[in-house]
Amino acid sequence: MADAAALGLTQRTDLRGRSLISMRSHTPDEIELLLDTAAELKQLKRDRVFPKHLADRNIAIIFLKPSTRTRMAFVIAASDEGAHTEVFRAEDMRFGVKESVKDIARVLGRTFDGIAFRGFGEGDVRALADHSGVPVWNALTENYHPTQVLADMLTIRELFGTLDGAPVTYVGDGRNNVVRSWVIGAVKMGMDFRILAPRELQPAAEEIAELTADDRALGGRITVTDDPRQALEGSAVVYSDVWVSMGEEDLLEQRIGLLRDYRVTSELMSLTGRDDTAYLHCLPAYHDFETEMARAHPDLREVDDDVFEGPRSHVFDQSENRMHTAKALMVLTVG
Ligand code: CP
Ligand code: NVA
Repeated sequence: MADAAALGLTQRTDLRGRSLISMRSHTPDEIELLLDTAAELKQLKRDRVFPKHLADRNIAIIFLKPSTRTRMAFVIAASDEGAHTEVFRAEDMRFGVKESVKDIARVLGRTFDGIAFRGFGEGDVRALADHSGVPVWNALTENYHPTQVLADMLTIRELFGTLDGAPVTYVGDGRNNVVRSWVIGAVKMGMDFRILAPRELQPAAEEIAELTADDRALGGRITVTDDPRQALEGSAVVYSDVWVSMGEEDLLEQRIGLLRDYRVTSELMSLTGRDDTAYLHCLPAYHDFETEMARAHPDLREVDDDVFEGPRSHVFDQSENRMHTAKALMVLTVG
């Protein structure tokens, strides 16, 4: 259980028992608590102090899609805090095929104290949360990737000391799970978030309106445009993701056609007009020819290697922060 005193935090809000599906139901205060706790736990780990907030807890990790970072984040975070984890891959379960999600939820809820889930539709992650009786954390679905955005926000705070003073420009497929979660999070935290995407890959205005309808948000600004200058002017962060998300592989050629002019190059980075703009990517990334996919499809790369490997790139700090934020999420919610 989260011990705010042990973490040196003033507990402003109580997240025990709470699931994280899309971040929609979280308040700015709750997100700030998650980020502050992640920062505290990161420092403790640097000092080799492991308070074991999750001793004797059991965490189920269900991955119906591949994962490196998110799996690593939940498994190692739980291990650092004294919990046992059990990872279920698609082939280990008969998820919704031979056993309903509702039944699986009730089975897991009897044995586990929390469930991380990566899958397809939102219905599955919601059904797990509704029927398991334990906190469920969305580890990526078609529409959302909230634990990624928590790590991104922690990274931006570390780099710039602020969220609302650090405009972020996302470049690429403007309708995917990472963007949707970013739109929700940005408005909540009062941020200036811009989406640079071709018209065909821009989110509809109604969708932005729906994602940002939030009485408790601090009220950020969302800009959607295909004009690089408008999107990038003054940006503290340029962010990209793959052009083809998991499950969309048959759209590969179409996406290359739509996005080939949206690769993040040093010229594009220079349009921010700042020399301290950071480059972030949720990873995995196509940035060189060291993957079979990039060799087979040379135009698939969403970022040039000199930007990815350059001094403004903080992608590996960001991937490390997946673990610290997953840890905060589990520590604060499993009680
Ligand atoms: N960023 C991210 O979610 O990476 P994985 O797919 O490797 O978990
Ligand atoms: N949008 C990507 C994110 C991967 C971390 C996908 O869903 O494949």
